[in-house]
Amino acid sequence: MQKKVLVTGTSRRVGLHLAKRLHEDGYAVLAHYRSQTEGVQELQKLGIETIAADFDSGEHILDFVARLRRDYQGFRAIIHNASSFTPTDEDLAQAAQQYEQFFYVHMMAPFLINQGLQDRLQGDDEQPADIIHITDINAENPTPRFDIYGTTKAGLHNMTLALAKKFGPSIKVNAVAPGPVLFTESHTDAVRQAMMAETPLAKEGGAEPVYLAVKSLMDNPFLTGVSIPVDGGRRLSKG
Ligand SMILES: NC(=O)c1ccc[n+]([C@@H]2O[C@H](COP(=O)([O-])OP(=O)(O)OC[C@H]3O[C@@H](n4cnc5c(N)ncnc54)[C@H](OP(=O)(O)O)[C@@H]3O)[C@@H](O)[C@H]2O)c1
Repeated sequence: MQKKVLVTGTSRRVGLHLAKRLHEDGYAVLAHYRSQTEGVQELQKLGIETIAADFDSGEHILDFVARLRRDYQGFRAIIHNASSFTPTDEDLAQAAQQYEQFFYVHMMAPFLINQGLQDRLQGDDEQPADIIHITDINAENPTPRFDIYGTTKAGLHNMTLALAKKFGPSIKVNAVAPGPVLFTESHTDAVRQAMMAETPLAKEGGAEPVYLAVKSLMDNPFLTGVSIPVDGGRRLSKG
């Protein structure tokens, strides 16, 4: 049986694109989702296997790992794309909840899934297996208004380095750090223009450049512990 490429957070946008493109390129994709969306239906119609889980507690994440171990023997790669993105709430009690939510999805889920499937991640003669964390350029140059988001993504960036040391030589662990690839509804026209003005390549990059970075990491047998910014250069000039 072909080894799976597990992609998390495939219900929409970047994750959906990654799952479709990996499938097109001949990988056996296992697409994780939380919400049942048109995107998930689209994946299922393409014949892509899907699996549901909410990464909202240690218990739920451990249950997800147990299901993966029970039902799948081998993984070629794991792409951690699932994420929550909102500005830090000014109400402290709300911020505490937000911290917990972001910690589970950006840090605990990748850690438990990686650790729990380490012995199931298998490369071949030419290639180690791959773990790829989708982080954010905010991990290194934070936006204060999004500090809970940014600090938990920074934790994921640090995990990339720690696990690259821990999981070699059989598994490479790398990160892709997007900048403005897909705006959200919360980005007003003014914010979009301001972001473009401080992006040397002056456009919204789209999901495909994220896929190209993921694929280049998977194709390269001698890269581990690196982070590729996919940001049109925004990290250089972002305030
Ligand atoms: N878009 C950008 O320009 C940009 C910029 C920098 C970094 N990034 C990073 O790139 C990745 C993709 O970005 P995006 O904009 O496509 O993200 P997105 O639209 O926010 O989608 C996030 C995905 O994660 C899932 N998810 C959220 N919380 C979850 C939970 N508790 N358990 C399981 N799944 C959960 C969502 O599922 P539901 O459908 O159920 O909500 C959704 O499928 C993210 O890691 C993001 O941080 C993106």
